Amino acid sequence: MEQDAQFKNRFAAALSTLEALGQEHVLHFYAGLDAASKEKLLDQIESVDWEELSGLIESHVKVKPEVHLSEDIEPAPWYPSVPAEGDEKKYEKALALGHKLIKDGRVAAFTVAGGQGTRLGWAGPKGTFAATPLRGVTLFGCFAEYIRHVQKKYDCTVPWYIMTSPLNHTETVKFFEENEYLGLDKANVMLFPQGMMPAVDCESGKVLLQEVDSIALSPNGHGGSLKALYTSRAIHDMRQRGIQHISYVQVDNPLVKLIDPMFIGLHAMDESEMSSKMLPKRDPFEKLGNFCKVDDKVTVIEYSDLPDELAVQRGDDGELKFLAGSVAIHAMTVDFVEKLNKGGFGLPFHRADKKVPYLDFETKLPVNPEEPNGVKLETFVFDALPLCEVSIVYEALREEEFAPIKNADGPGVLDSPATSKQMQSDRAGRWLEANGVDVPRDAHGHVDAMIEISQVTAVDAEGLAKHPLPEKIDRGAEILL
Ligand code: UTP
Repeated sequence: MEQDAQFKNRFAAALSTLEALGQEHVLHFYAGLDAASKEKLLDQIESVDWEELSGLIESHVKVKPEVHLSEDIEPAPWYPSVPAEGDEKKYEKALALGHKLIKDGRVAAFTVAGGQGTRLGWAGPKGTFAATPLRGVTLFGCFAEYIRHVQKKYDCTVPWYIMTSPLNHTETVKFFEENEYLGLDKANVMLFPQGMMPAVDCESGKVLLQEVDSIALSPNGHGGSLKALYTSRAIHDMRQRGIQHISYVQVDNPLVKLIDPMFIGLHAMDESEMSSKMLPKRDPFEKLGNFCKVDDKVTVIEYSDLPDELAVQRGDDGELKFLAGSVAIHAMTVDFVEKLNKGGFGLPFHRADKKVPYLDFETKLPVNPEEPNGVKLETFVFDALPLCEVSIVYEALREEEFAPIKNADGPGVLDSPATSKQMQSDRAGRWLEANGVDVPRDAHGHVDAMIEISQVTAVDAEGLAKHPLPEKIDRGAEILL
């Protein structure tokens, strides 16, 4: 009886909210649901900020949001990977500071793994995808090896925070449990889910249902990490451990330097609140966000939003002026994340038109659309950059740090498992060559063998020096170090 009364009250509250916003169809099947399904649907309805969503439907779904760019757009300055003349001492100091912060246990690793990975088409959480060329170490496994390396080298603890989504959280936790936390201490690995947003029909502006008892919800973008770090109490946990800096990476890049002392050092030395790594773009229209200074604040302008006349501008040296592309590698302070949350910040939402499976009201059957039918609303982590007092950018080397796995393999497909494995092997080959090993190359300059260096063994060329190395690698050989 008591449960009935509770359902009644919750239903009445949900109906009144939804009716006011023209979304009452969400409760269309409610009367015919059993108690568990009623509970599930009401929980979902109560988890959504309907006022916010309703505003977003007006501004982002019913119309395509217009991008208003300031007149005042400059390229953002960056620290080059090799210090400019006169800056050598600064880099030396930054490196020493980075080493100290890591050794003193002030740095945490943070991986955002809440995405759906639809382009890759892997059934499980993306972090469980086998990424390396020989052993097939998973993406999560690559990060775990990196952490094991750093912990051993510095005799320190690097706690690892992983953001999942409600769609893959249970499976991700299961993976870690079954794989004994990939050789890490379970007490230092924290997994927490991010928030969700309903997908909306792009024609009618109505929220899509996935089943009779559930809304078509999807993760609210990697920008959701800045809130989820706080609401999950991960930030609280960091404070208790004395963490000051968070090294932020995406789950899909097995080459990323998960903990980079130089980057952390420059970020800390300049008292930057949130810092970024950049790559020099290959061409003016490469699909990377652009690091700009807008109204004097470091800002990422998406490739689709940067006016062409700016994208093609070149300096006196012939180099692109807007050269710095974003690869979603950041460092941020615990203070900054806390400050944002205490100040009740909100990041802007972006619209993505996607194929969203939904339930047909007439037939009650699931529909898998062939064309984009729904709008997903997401926030992006880089939109926090303009909220910083100080924000620095540091150059990374593409061939050393960026081989993302985004797309399924196919002829000519970039950012795929195959291209990533080739880049991993090429990097391993370069590290071996730097240590005097003779490495075969093909006509395109790629390593003509498959080489895998475990990140437990080395995370850079110098680190290989203390290991026994072959003099020469045979063409077509498979070498694991
Ligand atoms: P992507 O933009 O590549 O999206 O995410 P995705 O969902 O992984 O893949 P597609 O577009 O469906 O193919 C970049 C990074 O941000 C994380 C992803 O897990 C990945 O590490 N991410 C993305 C989240 O953690 N949450 C989100 O809501 C979106």
